[in-house]
Amino acid sequence: MVDIQKRLTFASHAELIQIAETTGTPVFIHDENSYREYAQQALNAPNAFGLKVRYAMKANSHKAVLKIFDSMGLHIDASSYYEVKRAMAAGISADKISLTSQEPLNAEQLKELAGMGVLYNATSLLQLKRYGECFTGSNRPLSVRINPGLGSGHNNRTNTGGPAASFGIWHQYLDKVLALAREYSLKITHVHTHVGSGSDWKIWQKAARLTLDVVREMPDVTVVNMGGGYRIDRNNPENSMDFGTVFPVVSDAFRSFADETGRKLQMEIEPGTYLAANSCILVSRICDMVDTGKDGYNFLKLDSSMTELLRPMIYGARHPIILLGKGEQAQKDYVVAGTCCESGDIFTPSEGDPERVSTVKLPEAQTGDYVAITGAGAYGITMSAKNYNSRPICAEAMIRSDGSHVLITRRQKPEEIWANEIEVEI
Ligand SMILES: Cc1ncc(COP(=O)(O)O)c(C=O)c1O
Repeated sequence: MVDIQKRLTFASHAELIQIAETTGTPVFIHDENSYREYAQQALNAPNAFGLKVRYAMKANSHKAVLKIFDSMGLHIDASSYYEVKRAMAAGISADKISLTSQEPLNAEQLKELAGMGVLYNATSLLQLKRYGECFTGSNRPLSVRINPGLGSGHNNRTNTGGPAASFGIWHQYLDKVLALAREYSLKITHVHTHVGSGSDWKIWQKAARLTLDVVREMPDVTVVNMGGGYRIDRNNPENSMDFGTVFPVVSDAFRSFADETGRKLQMEIEPGTYLAANSCILVSRICDMVDTGKDGYNFLKLDSSMTELLRPMIYGARHPIILLGKGEQAQKDYVVAGTCCESGDIFTPSEGDPERVSTVKLPEAQTGDYVAITGAGAYGITMSAKNYNSRPICAEAMIRSDGSHVLITRRQKPEEIWANEIEVEI
């Protein structure tokens, strides 16, 4: 078992405490070098005929993060109209963005974004039809998302393939896709699948073969996007996916496809978690300690909560928790809780079961101690229950490549929470 108390990925305990003392807590602390190292690993992934890496910006949409990846030549996978706007506001050019949206865009939005050069990935027959109505006879690149018939996620809630998932066009409806392409004279140049987040890579490899079967029937397709989902194990990093061993199988499938059809397909991937998860830590302070008697639990209450990190509460996800600056003292079992008025606001659920409380062994803790929750960079601040209990959105800082650190998000002022509310006479 890896001693997490001794292992912090990118900064010393003293450095994290120093930053937190400047910014106040809770604070997310990002690390530029980590983002760059994970991105470089993805860019180096083995491939057959070329690889484009898109960052799935839903994992962490801060403009500083987007700019780091942009500076390295990564493109962007956006998951909503609004994410496209946000990426462009960060300075990303439209032609580097693809949009895979669950929500169909209206004609005005489609013309605005696709017209500017955003690659549109139709994820339903309705979306494809609407695109056709706007761009009949267009030669511009167009993508369709296919549900290849199987999926896999680190839990059922992150599985986005197979019959129980609404993501993408069911693979057996290919004839309908082709009929719409004919009806509106569209050229489908990209096929996309994403089978889930934290997927079993054997299933991902199988999904790649199934996707190539679909592409066989689509002669205009030159690019296959295999989505994201490449697993980071936050607690046992040695179990994380390794591009070097997982990708060659898929590269071989692309080569066999080329031998058979003469078509050398380019591959795209769109990792979010892999690039962001371990590049950011949430630092909080213990603001209270309670217990429930000799047969009960010892609770540490943090000044962060589900308003910063929701994954433990919705997935039963376990993140490493480290008491900063406490060395290796006697170990004690604690339940680590947030401070929202919500019994599910627990950072130590039973793994995979958000409804059951579990514990973590830590050195003897005291009120005021600093606590780091690592692996918090993906689906942390972007997916949290912001402003619940009217708690202000927290601050974010970044350790730059030169070792300096800067504030990248100032803490929200309470009055900003209700600023959009309109006064009514009651
Ligand atoms: C279409 C699509 N691509 C990429 C991703 C990124 O997944 P991950 O963060 O697991 O790499 C997601 C996340 O769910 C997604 O829905």
